[in-house]
Amino acid sequence: MNADGRTRLNQTPEWTALAKHREELGEVRLRELFAADPGRGTGYTLRVGDLYVDYSKHLVTDETLRLLRELAAATDVAGLRDAMFRGEKINTTEDRAVLHTALRAARDAVIEVDGENVVPAVHAVLDRMADFAGRVRSGEWTGHTGKRIRNVVNVGIGGSDLGPAMAYEVLRAFTDRDLTVRFVSNVDGADLHEATRDLDPAETLFIIASKTFTTIETVTNATSARTWLLKGLGDDTAVAKHFVALSTNAEKVAEFGIDTANMFEFWDWVGGRYSYDSAIGLSLMIAIGPDRFREMLDGFRVVDEHFRTAPAESNVPLLLGLLGVWYGNFHDAQSHAVLPYSHYLSKFTAYLQQLDMESNGKYVGRDGREVEWQTGPVVWGTPGTNGQHAYYQLIHQGTKLIPADFIGFAEPVAELSDELKAQHDLLMANFFAQTQALAFGKTPDEVRGEGVPEELVPHKTFMGDHPTTTILARELTPSVLGQLVALYEHKVFVQGAIWNIDSFDQWGVELGKVLAKRVEPALTEGAEVPGLDASTKALVATYRELRGR
Ligand code: F6P
Repeated sequence: MNADGRTRLNQTPEWTALAKHREELGEVRLRELFAADPGRGTGYTLRVGDLYVDYSKHLVTDETLRLLRELAAATDVAGLRDAMFRGEKINTTEDRAVLHTALRAARDAVIEVDGENVVPAVHAVLDRMADFAGRVRSGEWTGHTGKRIRNVVNVGIGGSDLGPAMAYEVLRAFTDRDLTVRFVSNVDGADLHEATRDLDPAETLFIIASKTFTTIETVTNATSARTWLLKGLGDDTAVAKHFVALSTNAEKVAEFGIDTANMFEFWDWVGGRYSYDSAIGLSLMIAIGPDRFREMLDGFRVVDEHFRTAPAESNVPLLLGLLGVWYGNFHDAQSHAVLPYSHYLSKFTAYLQQLDMESNGKYVGRDGREVEWQTGPVVWGTPGTNGQHAYYQLIHQGTKLIPADFIGFAEPVAELSDELKAQHDLLMANFFAQTQALAFGKTPDEVRGEGVPEELVPHKTFMGDHPTTTILARELTPSVLGQLVALYEHKVFVQGAIWNIDSFDQWGVELGKVLAKRVEPALTEGAEVPGLDASTKALVATYRELRGR
């Protein structure tokens, strides 16, 4: 029993029933499941918004799904979900509400935190962002010398970078192609150098994105960006026209030298990795325009509503979360691949890495005790078809079970030439072929039937039974992007709720930050740093020697 009165997850009857079921199922053969149920290919599908979700190629039966839903009921996923939507402080270690869903709530919705409706403030900031984005896009907002802004550089890291950077790539076809939009995150000076080397400071707007405005990488890069700008424009007053801030921390913004009139606010109940639909999305809004941004928010809202209200049997984020639990906890899968068949989604998996791994990479439960079960998976992947010629070999014939999501679209983006549009069917033929090959493989007899010499038969056999989810939509629009992101946000939520961890804190990133601060004087001044271990000490000495210090 837990301190919070809950039975330990792995001691619940629902967990035990799943473990027993897993044993009884043994080696599930997808060929057999499909043969036994001719309706499986259409029956094991769901729709949410514009997304068609096929989960038929999973190692599950009706009974598996029923038992998984029972686990969700026993762990009160729905209760925690409702508490989140109500604005309760479910991020207990930071004593904060978790209300990214309020960022896309309708203007007339009422969501209270500490007795105050937060929705009017959300829309007030969105309106200010829209006004500012409109002025930059139209050329009304000019730089210090009166020149039009042609370049936007977002400076931020983690959630203050990955979301807008990913969404900008995804929605490139919807962006104003006359604007150059870049994202600087790494404290490696090369990042800012490459982002600014061909830009005219007089035409460049820096957006400093940081929830806390204390993150060392962002503050360092922002300071260097200001130096670069002033070198070009020579006058401190230029900052007002070339720097805006996105933050929850007005005091630090002012301390840095950005007028808080040029600050777009968000709130402590928005987690960094859940924030790109807040003010953190300003660079994206400038790129795609306020109307497209609002379409994206509408897409988020479709999935929010679905997650909040759909019954367990047809609740897509719940289903995806439960499938992850099935593989991570009952099949010992360590990782989860997300494989989008869209070049525009090239940064999508990197974005999901933070969303999922910073949320659910925890070994301590909400009750403060160590968990006795696996939590978040390693999330990885790159767009198809590139991955097919790199690491798919391991997914097909390696020794690890890697559940994967395949995301694809029926239509190529509208602006491609007819010739390039014609390539889309080839892309999607690969998309469908891969999940088929992964699921059903090729038996030794089939290989022999092709006249393959006996000694090569084992090499050319594909065992199959590699589970995949297919997510298919007609077109990659701002709304569909919102739907996809909300789907994964809520999937991560479901898993955190079941594993009884706080998915909304990130204490695990603190130690490295503290140590970096401590080690820096050892590198720069050769200072004696107390408590430095022997290995790090030797590495630091070698570094200094290599740098000629
Ligand atoms: O180091 C982790 C983290 O705190 C993330 O959670 C966050 O998204 C990122 O750093 C950036 O933080 P900030 O927006 O406060 O600069």
